[in-house]
Amino acid sequence: MCKAARALLALLLCLCTLLGLCSGSAQAQSAEWTYPVSVTALQAQYAILVNVDHLLDKSYRPAPLVKVTGVKRATNAAIELEETTANALKDMFAAAAEVTEYTYTVTGSDGETKQKTAKFSNGMVLYLKSGYRSYGTQNTMYANYLDRNNGVDDGYVAKPGSSEHQSGFCADILNKKWAGYDRMNQDFETEPEAQWMKENCAEFGFILRYPKDKEDITRIAYEPWHFRYVGQEIARYIMSNGLSLEEFTEESQAALEAFVSAGGSIEEQMKREFRSMNAPPESTILDIYGEDGDAEVTLSFD
Ligand code: DAL
Ligand code: ZN
Repeated sequence: MCKAARALLALLLCLCTLLGLCSGSAQAQSAEWTYPVSVTALQAQYAILVNVDHLLDKSYRPAPLVKVTGVKRATNAAIELEETTANALKDMFAAAAEVTEYTYTVTGSDGETKQKTAKFSNGMVLYLKSGYRSYGTQNTMYANYLDRNNGVDDGYVAKPGSSEHQSGFCADILNKKWAGYDRMNQDFETEPEAQWMKENCAEFGFILRYPKDKEDITRIAYEPWHFRYVGQEIARYIMSNGLSLEEFTEESQAALEAFVSAGGSIEEQMKREFRSMNAPPESTILDIYGEDGDAEVTLSFD
């Protein structure tokens, strides 16, 4: 190869690298995100896992933190939540208020289950019992609980730092009957409101955070009143697949790691998702003409 040809080849290789057309970058372009939840949803602050292995700092305080107004409360004290969580909660309470009849499952003393229909002439009413709790408040609650419970931590009150109440992304929600009681217990699951929330919470971005069959994974006792905001996309996936947040986090983080090691870029994928979410609907020109002589067009909203 002559000197000029070699120089031209070197220049081409250089250009190729700059334009990202060479093998390394080509591999980056070929990594495909196939996990059923978007990278954008996974990167949101609402996907955070808080538990004994993932503690919140003592000084952590959600922002913006707002007072939840316009909903019934099971306490005289004001309740605060992170703002998006507060709005989602109000939407869920408003949707419940539209429910005038709900068929739910009851278990008889013989262990047999049957369906029962509850009527709500003025709509189903939910009561907010607890929302954001500071590290200090959780610390006091935990100490008081241990005092009452002969020093035994049986998984009902999280250790300070491991409570997602400190994140401002969760709420304890009851019905009128249970709002009148001092303590919650798992029998709340028999109430139509508890079953309605479990069935519908994902539409508002919430999950039942401490399910009955996942206590060994969450290390928190079953709490049919505790709902955690994770955003609608993640919530739908978790609730329809019967996962705990711990299982979901493990699964989705593995998907992210595999994607990055195959050369995928999180930033690029998020841009792609943003573009596809904001893309105009596809249109097809039909072989039909309107009165004005213009071809009719269909739009497909996926
Ligand atoms: N009751 C839940 C686990 C908490 O204390 O955060
Ligand atoms: Zn709670």
